[in-house]
Amino acid sequence: MPTSDAINEREAMLREKIKKFLRCDAFKKYPLGTNNDSAVQYDIVNTHFVAESITDNPDDWKLAFANICSYVKPGGKLVMAAMKHSNAWKNGEQKFPATYITEHDLVERLIENGFRYEDIIMETFPADQEDYKEVIFCCGIKNL
Ligand SMILES: C[S@@+](CC[C@H](N)C(=O)[O-])C[C@H]1O[C@@H](n2cnc3c(N)ncnc32)[C@H](O)[C@@H]1O
Repeated sequence: MPTSDAINEREAMLREKIKKFLRCDAFKKYPLGTNNDSAVQYDIVNTHFVAESITDNPDDWKLAFANICSYVKPGGKLVMAAMKHSNAWKNGEQKFPATYITEHDLVERLIENGFRYEDIIMETFPADQEDYKEVIFCCGIKNL
């Protein structure tokens, strides 16, 4: 269990390193908006519990996932975590719908969005949550 000191230290480090916040809508073709250069792509894109937690519609999940992946540069990395086998998640007492996904769904989407099968690293860990019992951690490298 992390100590309060360790948490405060991490917070201070992040506040120091994070230089910019942008609003984002993963359902839009350019999630960061059209004011940004639509061709901008990043070496590393981190997305944790986003695409599957903002819709329970598999087609919308695919769309959001593809839009997020479009921000990864060729040769860049997508680092992500997702709830496995979940139809919902809770924040406090509030419950939100989720898309039910598996490791197989994620691999399919990654390949569809230009990631190399051989470079996908995926591990599933237990999660002690009311609505899901496992989380999938995954890293993929986009084709050049
Ligand atoms: C389950 S939370 C995960 C938050 C954080 N990434 C984490 O791991 O703790 C889902 C997040 O998706 C964000 N979200 C909701 N609708 C979104 C959308 N259309 N596009 C992008 N993010 C959205 C919410 O604001 C929320 O922060």
